[in-house]
Amino acid sequence: MRYLGGKLAAMASRASNDLSFTSVLRSKARRPLVVALGAPREVATLLSELNQAAATCYQLDLFQARRLRGELAERQVSAQVVTGGDLWDLAADFQTVVFPVAEKGERELKIDVVEQAFHILRPGGRFVVLSPHGNDQLFPVHMKKVWERPRRRHQVTFHARIGDGPSLCFVSRPGVFAYGRFDDGARALVETMRVDPGDRIVDIGCGCGTNGIFAALHAGATGGVTFVDSNLRALALAEHNARLNEVGAFQCAASADLQGLPERSFDVALANPPYYAQTSISHLFITRARALLRPGGRLYLVTKQADQVGPLVAENFGPAEVVERRGYVILCAERPA
Ligand SMILES: C[S@@+](CC[C@H](N)C(=O)[O-])C[C@H]1O[C@@H](n2cnc3c(N)ncnc32)[C@H](O)[C@@H]1O
Repeated sequence: MRYLGGKLAAMASRASNDLSFTSVLRSKARRPLVVALGAPREVATLLSELNQAAATCYQLDLFQARRLRGELAERQVSAQVVTGGDLWDLAADFQTVVFPVAEKGERELKIDVVEQAFHILRPGGRFVVLSPHGNDQLFPVHMKKVWERPRRRHQVTFHARIGDGPSLCFVSRPGVFAYGRFDDGARALVETMRVDPGDRIVDIGCGCGTNGIFAALHAGATGGVTFVDSNLRALALAEHNARLNEVGAFQCAASADLQGLPERSFDVALANPPYYAQTSISHLFITRARALLRPGGRLYLVTKQADQVGPLVAENFGPAEVVERRGYVILCAERPA
């Protein structure tokens, strides 16, 4: 245990046996309590074991939040699930913040949570990290650094250009793909896509918005882009970056199922689906792209899993053109009538 600027922090390790772990945590947890991020099943199990029905659970991503609500309902735990791009936007009124750290989580996101948790605790409040590693070195160092430090937003700005086009500027943040750089797959996608003046573009799973912003600048003043993502921090960044790069017409839609957008209304759909969850997210992106595109509208999807994703595109769009670039495959297909 260590003290941070008058706030008490503790580390408990899930490497130890579960019973002692739960009892350690029970002795630290005071209400009101918030669980910051964490895998849905693990968070629900934890709250049910701690008997913390009145807790708040914070999630960055609508898909994870929906899964968590399901897991809580299954265990009849009535905790509230809130979503947002920043933990520190919650009221600074908690006695305990519990952070169940993902086994392979992003280092920068972990540090970001430590910093943000500090700002939602009452004076004397407690920050508890549940680390999957018995001898976690990251948190003790960063907990100390938080001591009385003013709010500091972790962000990295990067520049990217396509060919001899203009150099664009993008702000990225931990927890949003791709942090601090223009992803190679995204670059391959943008280099391959055809966007005409006046095109209406939907950037599905937009991350910080790079692809849609390049596309919107091609589409010009008569075109426009709609950014969609389930990650609320990603969407906030896409909005910020669209303004930064003077995109004229854009919209942002927070969604985990890609519903609620006008169907048959877009000329171009862009997608760089994640590789986790097997191909279920690719499948969602492809079926919704088909619904959102007008007949004759074009899908550009980049992947390293062409063997699995190619058949899904073929099923929904018919034969696709296959472009290999930068170690990726870009599937280009037209929506049939
Ligand atoms: C590999 S990243 C691509 C980000 C960006 N388009 C790029 O190319 O750099 C995939 C994005 O899909 C989003 N995503 C994953 N599942 C989603 C879902 N069910 N609904 C909406 N977006 C989702 C993630 O939050 C992430 O931003």
